[in-house]
Amino acid sequence: MKRALESSIDDVKIIDLPKVKNRAGNITALSSGIECPFEIKRVYYLYDIPAGEERGGHAHRDLEQYIIAVSGSFSIKLTDGNKAKEITLNRPDRAVHLVPGIWRELIDFSSGSICLVIASRHYDENDYIRSLEEFAIFKGQ
Ligand code: TYD
Repeated sequence: MKRALESSIDDVKIIDLPKVKNRAGNITALSSGIECPFEIKRVYYLYDIPAGEERGGHAHRDLEQYIIAVSGSFSIKLTDGNKAKEITLNRPDRAVHLVPGIWRELIDFSSGSICLVIASRHYDENDYIRSLEEFAIFKGQ
């Protein structure tokens, strides 16, 4: 994987996850090293998000993530400092693979939506870059 300093929007991929379907519903599973390329160290989810609220507004130095709309929909605005992109997620069998060094904002959460995040590291505030100014310096821009 590229270092966070060099990562670009083009390194952020949309991943179609396998789905086990039957009459009684579907299952999608993620295992480290199989459906998910990094070792899974942490799982968290955003829920009860009030209408109009935005989340994110930061980048990570080392953290890698899969972000999944397990219920409802939302959009992710991404920038690497040069190029920007917006991705809408609205299905539980699709993930965005977010590499380190990408600024993200999560917007337009539908009512009752749930954002599942699979993460490669434990929570560490020191891994966050929380201002665009600091992000530009980090990326050498
Ligand atoms: P943050 O990642 O800034 O939220 P978001 O990007 O969704 O807006 O996290 C908000 C707060 O939640 C943070 O200050 C500390 C806490 N938190 C944890 O304690 N553990 C975690 O794994 C995460 C993601 C957040």
